[in-house]
Amino acid sequence: PKLNSKLFKAFKCEIIKICRCKLTYVAAGLEGVSGRAALRELSVSNSESFWAAVARHRLCWSTPFHTVQDCDLSRGKIKWFEGGKLNVSVNCLDRHVHTCPERVALIWERDERGSEMKYTYGELLEMTCRLGNLLRRHGVKRGDCVTIYMPTCPLAVASMLACARIGAAHNVVFAGFSADALAERIRDAQSSTVITVNQGVRGGKVTELKKTVDTAMQSCPTVKQVFVAMRTDNPVTMTARDIAMEEEMLKEDVVCEPAVMNSEDVLFLLYTSGSTGKPKGLVHTQAGYLLYAALTHRYVFSYHDGDVFGCVADIGWITGHSYVVYGPLANGATTVLFESTPIYPDPGRYWDMVERLKINQFYGAPTAIRLLLKYGDQWVNKYDRSTLKTLGSVGEPINTEAWEWYHRVVGDGRCPVVDTWWQTETGGICIAPRPSDPDAEIVPGMAMRPFFGINPVLMDTEGEVLTSNNTSGALCMAQPWPGMARTIHNNHQRFIDTYFQPYPGYFFTGDGAYRSEEGYYQITGRLDDVINVSGHRIGTAEIEDVVNQCPAVAESAVVGYTHSIKGQGVYAFVVLKKGIDVQEADLSRQLNGMVSEKIAKYASPDFIQFAKRLPKTRSGKIMRRVLRKVVESDLEGLGDLSTLDDPAAVQEIIQGHEKLL
Ligand code: PRX
Repeated sequence: PKLNSKLFKAFKCEIIKICRCKLTYVAAGLEGVSGRAALRELSVSNSESFWAAVARHRLCWSTPFHTVQDCDLSRGKIKWFEGGKLNVSVNCLDRHVHTCPERVALIWERDERGSEMKYTYGELLEMTCRLGNLLRRHGVKRGDCVTIYMPTCPLAVASMLACARIGAAHNVVFAGFSADALAERIRDAQSSTVITVNQGVRGGKVTELKKTVDTAMQSCPTVKQVFVAMRTDNPVTMTARDIAMEEEMLKEDVVCEPAVMNSEDVLFLLYTSGSTGKPKGLVHTQAGYLLYAALTHRYVFSYHDGDVFGCVADIGWITGHSYVVYGPLANGATTVLFESTPIYPDPGRYWDMVERLKINQFYGAPTAIRLLLKYGDQWVNKYDRSTLKTLGSVGEPINTEAWEWYHRVVGDGRCPVVDTWWQTETGGICIAPRPSDPDAEIVPGMAMRPFFGINPVLMDTEGEVLTSNNTSGALCMAQPWPGMARTIHNNHQRFIDTYFQPYPGYFFTGDGAYRSEEGYYQITGRLDDVINVSGHRIGTAEIEDVVNQCPAVAESAVVGYTHSIKGQGVYAFVVLKKGIDVQEADLSRQLNGMVSEKIAKYASPDFIQFAKRLPKTRSGKIMRRVLRKVVESDLEGLGDLSTLDDPAAVQEIIQGHEKLL
């Protein structure tokens, strides 16, 4: 609907206030509607005006945009701020250096406790420029894709920003991924340049990242150069392809002309798992992504200028991209880079860090909270946490026990806990308890309220929108927003098929959700064959793929099961080929090794059950629904078994499961 002029004036006024971070809403001209809720309504009903005003105010443009949005969800077409030109690194660095070069941009909480290092905005800009020049000198051009395989550290952030500075896209691969997984992502992204470190250090253990890159290179013939930074003092073998990064950076100029980028040029690719097929390289672009990361960072966490923001995610995941790097830096925040683990050298690590670095917002994953809860309150109480203002949770559902502990013990009952729901695909937080009103009620374990401009709907199995409350359905978004992914690299059809085909005209998230009587959202979990292990997303099909490569294996089925710490664990059913005679324990070890080697350690099955056959439908489809119920020991819930080819298969599976436990 068109706004009348009085309402529009109030609306514009409010946007400007929001932009200036004034947190009181004056409902001038909006009688009968409560403050922030009204603005949220307007951000959806007049999303163009809302995003245009925020984009003009929040981002620094070299050329203003002429079209706010050009989107058609039915075709998977998403374009924001066309005509606009800007540079993301200028928005994250130069504009803050201009006003306060001495402000700390990064605090690198290194693995060794108490050895943190601080980098000002001026220093980070210098690092980024030297690296940008170095990449340019070595032929990296606008539009190229650079793969970054590094732990969370300042040079990794500088690498991302250096790519942004010269107009190259980055493809950060989580440093826990194996050589095979890395190689697959390098090949798919068609990268000819890789940036890595000699070794990583995490939880007191050294990981041989450069060696992993060397192995990956055997199947990546297109890679021309590998930049190697030194995280430890240990030299590694350098080949003709390898370039000593720090040494070469020193030779470069500290000024690097930023590339003038179009709003819709690619900023980065980030691979994530789907329910079928290979991991997909989701594509995020410049202006819309940055704006959305910045705005959500500011409002979801009630970030204020001068706060120290501590998101403990790895930069290899979207949480690291949006809330370690881009959101905080766009807002001129001091952001923490956490290199260690929650229990190294002891379970007080996070809270010691909160005290030492004076962290104001702490953002972590439920799996770590569940782990720490088991060690007891004394590890938390030892440290001063009075600087904390907001506690965030991300990546998986947070159970009530963990939520209560986080709130009562970590936050002393005085810090709001914000359970934030979003995905690699959404670019930033979409549902969170306090996207706006800092005093809004919070219900434990609920993501609750959609962010500005987000219009969630629930769908029934017929594909109809569920309009009532107190109902559950497939979570979709009825409107585009600037932060959403634009495509899957080299496979736009898969993008359409996965996200826009299931419910035409809507973006389908793959998650189910419940909407309460009050209209609050609670995420109920994935509706597809994607599982979430310690907050790491993995397609069960990817694990099956590896297991099936074992010559002894005829077929397999992998499902997730509830795990008290990891959220979900991996449970594999394996059928051996006829005539194979092996020790099951030996084969289990071999299969675990294969999964670690081909994907990553976290994907390795917790349980492997050998079975004579799997329950299948008459048309030969494995009935995963039945397997999921068996591993949850929910035999009551097995449901309709009438389509089973041979009901005896289920009994065998149940018996095998009981034996394994
Ligand atoms: O199932 C949802 C779960 O994590 C998936 C997205 O994973 P990824 O792309 O790796 O991004 C994780 C970090 C944003 C979602 O489809 N998920 C994420 N946040 C929550 C969640 N499930 C429940 N509650 C959440 N707060």
